[in-house]
Amino acid sequence: MANTILIGAQWGDEGKGKIIDVLTEQADIVVRTQGGNNAGHTVYLGPKKYVLHLVPSGILRKRKTCVIGNGVVIDPVNLVGEIDGLEKLGIRMGSNLLISETAHLVFPYHRELDAQREVLKGKNKIGTTKRGIGPAYGDKAARTGLRMIDLIKPDLFAEKLRAKIRENNEILKAFGAKPLSYKKVLEAYSEAGRRLQPFVSNTVVYLHQACQAGKNILFEGAQGTFLDIDHGTYPYVTSSNTTAGGACTGSGVPPHRMDSVVGVMKAYTTRVGEGPFPTENNEFADFLHNLGREFGATTGRPRRCGWFDAVATGHATMVNGIDEIAVTNVDGLDTLDVIRVCVAYRHGGERLDYVPADASVLAECEPVYVEFPGWKCDTTKSRRWKDLPPKARSYLNAIAELTGAHLSIVSVGPAREQTLFL
Ligand code: GDP
Ligand code: IMO
Ligand code: MG
Repeated sequence: MANTILIGAQWGDEGKGKIIDVLTEQADIVVRTQGGNNAGHTVYLGPKKYVLHLVPSGILRKRKTCVIGNGVVIDPVNLVGEIDGLEKLGIRMGSNLLISETAHLVFPYHRELDAQREVLKGKNKIGTTKRGIGPAYGDKAARTGLRMIDLIKPDLFAEKLRAKIRENNEILKAFGAKPLSYKKVLEAYSEAGRRLQPFVSNTVVYLHQACQAGKNILFEGAQGTFLDIDHGTYPYVTSSNTTAGGACTGSGVPPHRMDSVVGVMKAYTTRVGEGPFPTENNEFADFLHNLGREFGATTGRPRRCGWFDAVATGHATMVNGIDEIAVTNVDGLDTLDVIRVCVAYRHGGERLDYVPADASVLAECEPVYVEFPGWKCDTTKSRRWKDLPPKARSYLNAIAELTGAHLSIVSVGPAREQTLFL
C-alpha cells in the first residue's frame, strides 16, 4: 500500500474513520498529524461503535502501531479518558501507541478561552467544538505553548504551569470568567503525565526508521479541506492544516516519502458549525435527520446538509493532490427521486468554477446544479461495484469525473464489509 495520506475533501465527518479502519488492514502504522479531540472518527465493528478523538482509528486492528504525531494538540486528561474508555471496550494499548514528545498540550484555559471568544463573537461565532483547539494552536504559534516533553518532567512542568495559569487567569478575568485553580490543574495534569509517560517518544525518528524499513504508513487526516487554516473558508475553519501538506509537517515524514493521497468525501455534503455552505438545503437536512443520520460524533450537534459540491471537491483535489477518492454514505441517497450535484457557482452574474477565497463571497454564491435520477433501491447489501444499480454507478462516475480523481472506494454502510473496491 506504500505511504498514503488520507484526508477529508469536504468540511469534515466524511467517514474518514471508517475508511481508515478498512485501509489499516494493509498498513503497518497509522499516524494522526494534526487537530486534536475536536475530531470524532466513528468506526463500527459488528454492533460495537467506537468514536476515536485523539487515538488513531488504526488502533482497532491488532498488530498495528498508532502514532499521535507532533502536529496534534493533546488534551492529556482527555486522552487518558479515551485510552481508558477504549480499554473498557477491550482495546489494549501498550507499545502499539506512540505519542510525540513535541506535540503541544491543550489546557483548561484554552477550552475556557475558546468558549469565551465564541460568546464575544456573538452572531459571528465560528461554532467551534469548544475543545480549546484554536487557543492551543495560538500558543504554539506564539511560542508560548507547553508540550508533551514538558508534561513528563514533573518539577519543571509544575513551574511552567504556574506561570501559564497566572497569565491566563488575568485574561480569563478580563472576560469575566472564573479563574482556574493552579493546584487542581497541576494535580490532574501530573496524573495524566504519569499515565502517558510510557507512550511518549521521538516519533519523528521512529517514523523515519519505519520508512527505511519499508513499512506502510497511513496518515489519518482529521477535519476536512475546507476547515484548513490556509485553504478553508477562513475564519470559519479549524486551526491546523487539514490538507495533505499537514501530514508532512505534523509527522516529520518528508514529502518525497509520500506515495498517494486518498480524498474521502460523502456522496452529499455536510458541515457542522458556522460558515458558508453553498449547496446547503434544509429540506435535504430534514430528510437525512429523519433517517437518524448526520448528528455530530464529537458534540452531537445536527450537521448541516446539502448536495454534493463538485466545485469544492475539485478544489480539494487541487490543494491536496488527491489521486484516489473514497465516496461514503452512498446509501443515504437510496430513496431519493432526484439527486443534485453542484457543478459551478453563480456570483454577481458571473459563473465561477473555483471556490472563491473570501468566505463572504462564497456565502453569496448560488450553486449551479445538474440533476441525476435516483436509483430508488437499497445499496447497503452491495459488495462489488457491479452489484450497485446502474444509476448509482453513473452518479458515482460523474462525481469522480467532476472531482478530477480516480474513484477507488465506495462505501454503502458503516460496517467494514459495506465497502466496495474498484
Ligand atoms: P469522520 O470524522 O470523517 O471519521 O466521520 P464521522 O465518524 O464523524 O461521521 C461519519 C458517519 O458516517 C459515522 O457515523 C460513520 O459510521 C458513518 N458512515 C461512514 N461511511 C458510511 C456509509 O457508507 N454509510 C453509512 N450509512 N454510514 C457511514
Ligand atoms: P472530524 O475529524 C467536522 C469544525 C467545528 C467548527 C470549526 C472550528 O471528525 O472530521 P474547532 O473546535 O476545531 O476550533 O472548530 O471546525 N470542526 C469539525 N467539523 N468534523 C471535524 O472533525 C471537526 N473538527 C472541527 O464544528 O465549525
Ligand atoms: Mg467526525
